[in-house]
Amino acid sequence: MEVASSSVSVIAGQPGEHVVVWGPGSLSNLGPGFDALGLCIQGLGDRVEAWRTETPGVTLVEANGLPGSTIPVDPARNTATVAAAAVLRQAKARHGVALRLYKGLPAGSGLGSSAASAVAGAWAANLLLDQPLPRETLVEAVLEGEAVASGSRHGDNVLPSLLGGLVLVSASDPTCYRRIPLPAPLAIALILPRVAVLTRTAREILPRQVAFQDAVHNASALAFMIDAFRSGDWEAVGRWMMADRIVEPVRATLVPCYEAVRQAAVSAGAFGCALTGSGPSMFALARDALHARQVLSAMREACLESGVEVEGYVTAVDFEGVRQL
Ligand code: HSE
Repeated sequence: MEVASSSVSVIAGQPGEHVVVWGPGSLSNLGPGFDALGLCIQGLGDRVEAWRTETPGVTLVEANGLPGSTIPVDPARNTATVAAAAVLRQAKARHGVALRLYKGLPAGSGLGSSAASAVAGAWAANLLLDQPLPRETLVEAVLEGEAVASGSRHGDNVLPSLLGGLVLVSASDPTCYRRIPLPAPLAIALILPRVAVLTRTAREILPRQVAFQDAVHNASALAFMIDAFRSGDWEAVGRWMMADRIVEPVRATLVPCYEAVRQAAVSAGAFGCALTGSGPSMFALARDALHARQVLSAMREACLESGVEVEGYVTAVDFEGVRQL
């Protein structure tokens, strides 16, 4: 069941001793890193309030979304409840958990909305255990949560939201991952063009077969980009980020302002600009927060000139990941 509402009361309930958790949003793919690379970001995310119940299982007491948003309230289809239930199962808990979900991330934005809820639900359930489990042991639970939204187990949003920072994850086995250290802060301009892009559509239009040269090119582009991230060479990061030949050129067709925004960001001095996830959100890397504001303003203007309404933010890397507030 999906309910289109900004505030849905599912089951009446009152919290006793409760925890409040922040599940941060994330940028994913970053050009050539399709399903393999994600970056946790500050300021945008989902919030979960949770408390223990004597009845086993997970109850979604309330789901508050952004105006006009759609939140799955069936506990078997909501990423927060599925991930929380997986944690309770993993810990063999005898109690249950009730959740209130406050969505700050719009679904279908490319900012890891379903992942942020999954991670927040899992972390809340974990904090309510008699003996909380270490963060790294929740990978399976959050992948399970994310899978109910996307239909596949990919870790490029859930793992950065869980662990913080930049995470490289295997596209074929998302339990295999590595956190990539970033030696310096990174300023990010982020726009959310008001264009509907369904993740499912954005995955369906991808080619089933690719030219050998393009596959080889993308593999080396990702390798160079990871090396550039590790060494803080943002110019090289930006260059390789814009070098994807397989996924982004196809998805660009779904975002009418794509070319104009990229050009505007680069003309404003951004190191690079790309779609995040399946779009339509786009981000650009800048020298510092002041420069990111200038880049943002150029990106917004390009979007509006293309006839697309837009929201924009300046953000930075969240190195901590999911946390209790
Ligand atoms: N890597 C995924 C994609 C992220 O690009 O389809 C969206 O969930």
